Amino acid sequence: MKLAVLGYGTVGSGVVQILEENRDIISVNAGEDLEIKYVLDLRDFPGDPIQKKIVHDYNVILNDSEVEMVVEVMGGVHPAYEFVKGAIENGKNAVTSNKELVAACGAELLELAHLKNVDFFFEASVGGGIPVIRPMIRCLTADRILKISGILNGTTNYMLTCMEEDGASYDDVLRQAQEMGFAERDPSADVEGWDACRKIAILSSLAGGQQVDYREIRTIGITGITQADFRYAAALGLRIRLLARASFAPDGIYVQVGPALVSSDDPLYAVKGVYNAVKITGDRLGDVMLYGQGAGKDATASAVVSDIIEAARTRRNPYKLKVRWDEKKLALSPIGEYPSRFLVRLRGRLDEVKDEIQKKLQPERFLVLDGLEDEFAVVTSAMSDDTLARILEGEPGRFISRMYLEEV
Ligand code: HSE
Repeated sequence: MKLAVLGYGTVGSGVVQILEENRDIISVNAGEDLEIKYVLDLRDFPGDPIQKKIVHDYNVILNDSEVEMVVEVMGGVHPAYEFVKGAIENGKNAVTSNKELVAACGAELLELAHLKNVDFFFEASVGGGIPVIRPMIRCLTADRILKISGILNGTTNYMLTCMEEDGASYDDVLRQAQEMGFAERDPSADVEGWDACRKIAILSSLAGGQQVDYREIRTIGITGITQADFRYAAALGLRIRLLARASFAPDGIYVQVGPALVSSDDPLYAVKGVYNAVKITGDRLGDVMLYGQGAGKDATASAVVSDIIEAARTRRNPYKLKVRWDEKKLALSPIGEYPSRFLVRLRGRLDEVKDEIQKKLQPERFLVLDGLEDEFAVVTSAMSDDTLARILEGEPGRFISRMYLEEV
């Protein structure tokens, strides 16, 4: 089978390498040889053997009936959307690692692929190398999904781990994450939580069977996290993780991304560095956790190639799997109503305001750290974000920050 790879960046070059270097096992698993006929890129790569396959005009690929599959690893919604849609309309299978594309247009492209009787696979769009999309679509089908809680961004997990364990500076660890090929071209997408937001939108759309609009997901990144936050977390025996969470509760569906405090009872506590993990709770199965490298050339390319192999295996099968992901929007509940305990940092000397704060917030615990006596922190009982905000309204200038405590 002949295929075309769209984009020769970090992931694209990884895909080319795996197809070449693991050719023997891949041919056996796919049931036939897979050959890259074209690589689309704006650039040329003189001296690289790939140069003889480089094309700059997508129409060469689209109009070549020998090419049965396109592999989109360029990123961004445009022109990836037009390229993938064009390929499917022309009866080609499509594989992508592009979470922006899948979050925005997944339902539409799946429907189109279904009509055209081709595959549209996107395993690498969530959790890098971790198999999570296929397990959700093919295995976790007997349960109602109650909750998804995941570390879905490798860059920020790497940064948080280095900042916590080595006291490393934010800028240094971000640079390292970029050098190692974990970060997005614009790393704001990682540190502001937008990348994790796209990924939880995809997972919750699959779990809910309808479109979760990523623009409606409250998303907070890690840019506001300081060494003081790590010290409060350590004092409580907790770790800070950027969590992407979806809760399908009887009273509503809550989806959010933000830094949260994780306890050692939670398997997410042990997830360090570039590793990601997705914990899925089903109503019959209970918890399942999928764990692996969430970013990086080889891990992500491995997931892409597994999709290529799956599409090759099933391409002559007239009975394609219909994925339950309708374009109709899933109504999310206001996240301010979601109940949680919080760690809240407040300005002031605790001995001067303790009684007042005790009366208003009835915290479970007060914390004062050495060298930070002009502020203190409290652990609240369970309440909604809106309730917390209302209580703190009467304390202008006192609020510094608050973080969710993830309940196991
Ligand atoms: N920038 C992403 C991450 C790449 O760090 O997780 C994988 O999607």
